[in-house]
Order: sequence, then C-alpha cells, then structure tokens
Amino acid sequence: METLKVFTQQELPACKPILTPGLVITTLISIGIIFVPIGLGSLSASEHVVEIIDRYDDACVPSNGDDEAAKSERLSFIQNVKTNKTCIRNLVIPKKMKHPIYVYYQLDNFYQNHRRYVKSRSDRQYQSPRFERETKTCDPESEIDDHTPIVPCGLVAWSLFNDTYRISTENDPIPINKKDIAWQSDKNSKFGSNVYPKNFQKQDPVGGGKLNESLPLSEQEDLLVWMRTAALPNFRKLYGRIETDLEANENITVVIQNNYNTYSFHSKKQLVLSTTTWIGGKNDFLGKAYITAGGICLFLAIAFILTYVIKPRPLGDPAYLSWNLNSKER
Ligand SMILES: *[C@@H]1O[C@H](CO)[C@@H](O)[C@H](O)[C@H]1NC(C)=O
Repeated sequence: METLKVFTQQELPACKPILTPGLVITTLISIGIIFVPIGLGSLSASEHVVEIIDRYDDACVPSNGDDEAAKSERLSFIQNVKTNKTCIRNLVIPKKMKHPIYVYYQLDNFYQNHRRYVKSRSDRQYQSPRFERETKTCDPESEIDDHTPIVPCGLVAWSLFNDTYRISTENDPIPINKKDIAWQSDKNSKFGSNVYPKNFQKQDPVGGGKLNESLPLSEQEDLLVWMRTAALPNFRKLYGRIETDLEANENITVVIQNNYNTYSFHSKKQLVLSTTTWIGGKNDFLGKAYITAGGICLFLAIAFILTYVIKPRPLGDPAYLSWNLNSKER
C-alpha cells in the first residue's frame, strides 16, 4: 500500500536537476567541444576516400536516344542472347588508391524494397533440402511446368544481377577477389551448405543471372549479396575486392559484360571503385551533421553566456517578478 502511494503521488526518488545557467552553459559547451572535433575528423576521413564512379548503362548499348525507336532498339539489343554485350571502359585513377579497393555495382531507381518483391522468397527452402517444396511464398517463381520446385525460389533470386567486370592495367590483369563478400551469418546459417540450385532460370522469362548447380547456395556469394535486399531504390552492392594498390594517373581498362536489363525501366547502372577509412566509404553527411550539432550548441552557449552571465536576473526570486508587475502598475 505504502509503495503504491509513493508511486501514485509521484514521490518516488527521482533526479530533478535544476537548470541553472551554469549547468546549461557547461553542458552546451561540452557537447560542442566533443562534437566539433568528431565532425572535423570524420569529414577529413571522408575526404581521404578515393572513389571512382562510372556510369556505363547508356554507353554500353548501341543507341541511347530518348525517342521510341531508340528505346526499342536498346531493348531488343539487351534481350537478345546472341548480341555481343562486351563493353570496354577506360578509367583513370585520380589519386593513389591503397588496397583493399572495393568494387561495387550501383543501381538507381531499382525498387528492391517493393512489398511483393521482398516477400517473394522462402528462407526455409534456402536453409535445408528438407524444405525444398516450401515455395508457397515464392510466387510467381515457385515451380516450373512439371511442378518440381525451383531452388532458390522467388523473385529476388530470379532477378539476380548478372553484369560482370574484368579489370586490367595496360599490361596486367588486376584480379578481383570475390571471396567473403557476403555476410558471414548468411553463409553460416541462412543459406544451407547442402542446398543446391535446381531448375533455376530454366524457363522463360529469364530474370537475371544463372547459378552453378554444383555449388551449394551458401557458397554462391553473389546471390547472398543480392538477396540481402536494399532498403532504398538507389543502392550499391559489393562485387569484389582488389587487393593491390593502384597508382595515381594509372589507366585501367574495365571489360564489362553488360547483361542485366535495366532498360525496360528508368534505371542507371554504375561501377564504383572505392577505398575505405575508419568511417567506411565516402560519406560527408556524418561529419557535417556532427559539426552542425556541435556548432549550434556552442552558439547557444555563447548566447546564454551573454544573457545570463553578463546581464543576469536574480535566480529563484519570485519577488523580482512581482516587483516587475508592481512597478508597471505604479
Ligand atoms: C542476364 O539477365 C538478363 C535479364 O536481366 C537475361 O535476359 C540474360 O539472359 C542474363 N544473361 C546471362 C548471361 O545470365
């Protein structure tokens, strides 16, 4: 009973800080002093990231006009399995890039977060061969015409990205390491090491990349990366890692197999090469946000100092208020 009374009458022990100018000013100044250097540090780290972005989807098709004829020519080029989709891009390294250099593909305006798309998968099926037939959630890519299940089923797997990149300097190829690009937890538990692809991309329409039927799903890392669906329509996914340094002003050649059809919807394809620092890839936002927040705190601290320290009003003195009122009446 006693405790209830303490609770209902709000007599529980509590921290009730009194916001004196001194306390407020010290808090604001310390936040400012902590945040501004963090912001400057991350901004400079972001500045040190070397990033090359090359948009190739429009340059790697025969026609890139905007009229209907050009559009249908593009589509028939990309949909025809017989056309030569090899495309060569020459890039210059702007600044020395220290390894590891991450290779990403970036798709813009690709809604991997569409509700019916994200749900079109069967995590139980990917986990174990016992659940091979659990494809109810995978429509419209659950089974082929003879009613045997597709492994891995679902639209997400079906639309697997299938452009490939080979990079070389003038004389030597630069190997791209594609090991360990997926999440460890995906490899260890989400995708089974005894689940093998079956009936995958066997029937028209073919949505994207094919899988090696002799490798279990847990070792098909490109698939694992693709199946971790992006939350936003513009996203980057890891393709591989370059484990040698690239020198400034070096010319590199990228041989692209431009297979993936993003031409039927307005989408961009970009190849990204990027180094990293302790904050990850290039990201100015974090630094700017810290500097802004710290700056506002310092500004408020100065404003408080000016109003309360230089021209203070007596603290906690109600007489001061009534004196003001009375003085008006008089
Ligand atoms: C790549 O994906 C496209 C669909 O975007 C498909 O038409 C094409 O056949 C695939 N090519 C290869 C080589 O897997």
